[in-house]
Amino acid sequence: MAQFPEGFLWGGATAANQYEGAWNVDGKGPSTADMLTGGDVDHPRHFTKTIEPDTYYPSHTGSDFYHHWEEDLEYLHRMGFKTYRLSIAWTRIFPNGDDAQPNQKGLDFYRQVFKRCQEYGIEPLVTLSHYEAPYHLTEAYGGWQDRRVIDFFVNYAQTVFREYKGLVHYWLTFNEINMLQSPFGAYMAGALPLADGAPLTAPVGVRAGGDQLQAQYQALHNQFVASAKAVQIGHAVDPDNMIGCMIAAGVDYPLTSKPEDTFKADMSNNMRNYFCGDVQVRGEYPAFAKRFFNDNDIHLDITDEDRQAIAMGTVDFYSFSYYSSGVQTTTNEGEQTESNQTKTNKNPYLKYNDWGWAMDPLGLRITLNRIYGRYDIPLMVVENGLGAFDKVEADGSINDDYRIAYLQGHIQAMGEAIADGVDLIGYTTWGCIDLASAGTGQMDKRYGFVYVNRNDKQEGDYSRSPKKSFYWYKKVIASNGTDLSND
Ligand code: BG6
Repeated sequence: MAQFPEGFLWGGATAANQYEGAWNVDGKGPSTADMLTGGDVDHPRHFTKTIEPDTYYPSHTGSDFYHHWEEDLEYLHRMGFKTYRLSIAWTRIFPNGDDAQPNQKGLDFYRQVFKRCQEYGIEPLVTLSHYEAPYHLTEAYGGWQDRRVIDFFVNYAQTVFREYKGLVHYWLTFNEINMLQSPFGAYMAGALPLADGAPLTAPVGVRAGGDQLQAQYQALHNQFVASAKAVQIGHAVDPDNMIGCMIAAGVDYPLTSKPEDTFKADMSNNMRNYFCGDVQVRGEYPAFAKRFFNDNDIHLDITDEDRQAIAMGTVDFYSFSYYSSGVQTTTNEGEQTESNQTKTNKNPYLKYNDWGWAMDPLGLRITLNRIYGRYDIPLMVVENGLGAFDKVEADGSINDDYRIAYLQGHIQAMGEAIADGVDLIGYTTWGCIDLASAGTGQMDKRYGFVYVNRNDKQEGDYSRSPKKSFYWYKKVIASNGTDLSND
């Protein structure tokens, strides 16, 4: 039976742009996410330079948390949440990103949310930038490839650290910062410019003399510096602040026992779990980065001041998302599949969800052991869950046993990892209340314990109802993970 430590932070997670809606209400400015249309598993999301009439932009409405926050927090309280991971929309606080003064209504919105969390005994875990930035920064500066954006972010971070001192103690700087290494993350995480009408993974606009990878890694470097400076300021504002990195982590297996396959899988795991982890936890680029930059002809602008900031601004804990595992091979054999926005080979030993993501609880135990083995600091799993189509029965019930089964397996794997010696301090399942998908923009790809009556045809009144998994997770939390039974 799994044994979780006393005070383990059980909870769930959401992101502002996928959940809040009210995209242009009370002074909020447009974010990069607000320019992305809906899509599905076969049709990619597109970027549009201006908002087109009769086009669906999922972030504009999300699950309308902005007008349902009291009800939603009550649901989380009823489940017994110890923590709730949410992000602040940077554009509610600084609508253009480079504004001199913050938007008071934006500050007020989150204050009431955090205060209610405090009343419920729920510790907020706040992401400063979850797949969005003020769109103005893309237009005027080319996004994160411009180092002036570092100061805008640091100013925003300082503003919210001061504003919510005493209400928030757990922070994450950038969501899945390592996704900036992939084409998916170039716009999504790096706010790098896309051509009007381009699909989300299209090549991004780069500075003269640079290329795609160069732009992505410069943007990533600038985020490392911004993150490190934010960590230092966060600690100075309140020494009780615990500030973490957030990485899309996982494991790639070799397809065969060919040493070349193992080497390729190892390098893939290094790039995914350790490239950003080393910078943010150890305060310096890993040894393998040098060769990667040389082989790919990447020449970064890194100053002595940057190096110092990175060395001084290391994080207090390593948090990560885990959904699935991948497979690497040097032979072009076997079927390919998407695994959390990254293409890998299909694993014949695993089952896949409707979006082609492998379901692999043991992969989570492997990932936890590897990451803890490298860094020896507390870990948090801040995203995990099953995206699925849910069916509402005639009596209104939703019997999501498949979701319960997925979560059971992963919680068991975390319990085993704790028994292996891993210092795991929290677990927040993804999309605890249904929200729009980041990858496809679908509302019908659901992760929640609470159903939101809104679908991809834009039908539904946003009313909420608990699913079967709601009662199950409540029991899991109440028993501190010792009762995972589904009866
Ligand atoms: C992570 C992101 O990549 O995965 C979330 O941090 C996202 O924002 C989640 O929603 C699940 O992906 P998707 O595409 O199913 O929404």
